[in-house]
Amino acid sequence: MAARAMTDAPRYSAIETLRDGRRAEIRALRPDDRSGLEEAIGRSSAESLHRRFFAVRRNFSESEVAFFLNVDFVSHVALVAIADEGGRPAIVGGGRYIVVQPERAEVAFAVVDQYQGQGIGAALMRHLIALAREAGLKELIAEVLPENTPMLKVFKKSGLHMTTAREPGVVHVTLQLS
Ligand SMILES: CC(C)(COP(=O)(O)OP(=O)(O)OC[C@H]1O[C@@H](n2cnc3c(N)ncnc32)[C@H](O)[C@@H]1OP(=O)(O)O)[C@@H](O)C(=O)NCCC(=O)NCCS
Repeated sequence: MAARAMTDAPRYSAIETLRDGRRAEIRALRPDDRSGLEEAIGRSSAESLHRRFFAVRRNFSESEVAFFLNVDFVSHVALVAIADEGGRPAIVGGGRYIVVQPERAEVAFAVVDQYQGQGIGAALMRHLIALAREAGLKELIAEVLPENTPMLKVFKKSGLHMTTAREPGVVHVTLQLS
């Protein structure tokens, strides 16, 4: 079975407490998040961008931007983490899954450097797992650079059964949702 539609996924919202006690909202990506995403990319280090895109990408074509923003919440589900920065909400992280085969989706994450290590990656993973299960998916997959310990840790600690296949330069991760 392909992914089931989740009627409330586009309005998904949850509040998380970070390791330093601050709060962050995990919510569905919205079509008007373009400038927030661009700002988040602007403040990400070259290393983080490389780990996310396997290349240091700061500029994206209009069709790539449209792909990232026009999320249908069925075959493509995206969440963002929002922190309050002096009364202004800022996108400080994001996680998404894209259904690549029936019942199987690829996940990818990015958290702004100054917010890494606060549990945002793990929280995004937890919420994406809940949505993926609700959608009837069976497996999440990811491609991770071998040196990307934080991402591999988030997957290991997700509670899902994990298998990895190592190739030179990339680790293929498979996580069982059921
Ligand atoms: C991978 C990533 C999304 C994890 O998000 P995060 O918010 O830092 O994750 P968490 O805070 O939930 O922490 C994950 C674990 O990695 C550890 N960690 C986080 N940043 C770290 C760092 N810079 N160095 C070493 N360990 C780190 C954390 O301590 C935590 O381990 P613990 O639970 O044993 O303490 C984030 O580091 C990131 O955006 N990296 C760059 C982009 C990327 O790699 N994307 C993945 C592509 S699939």
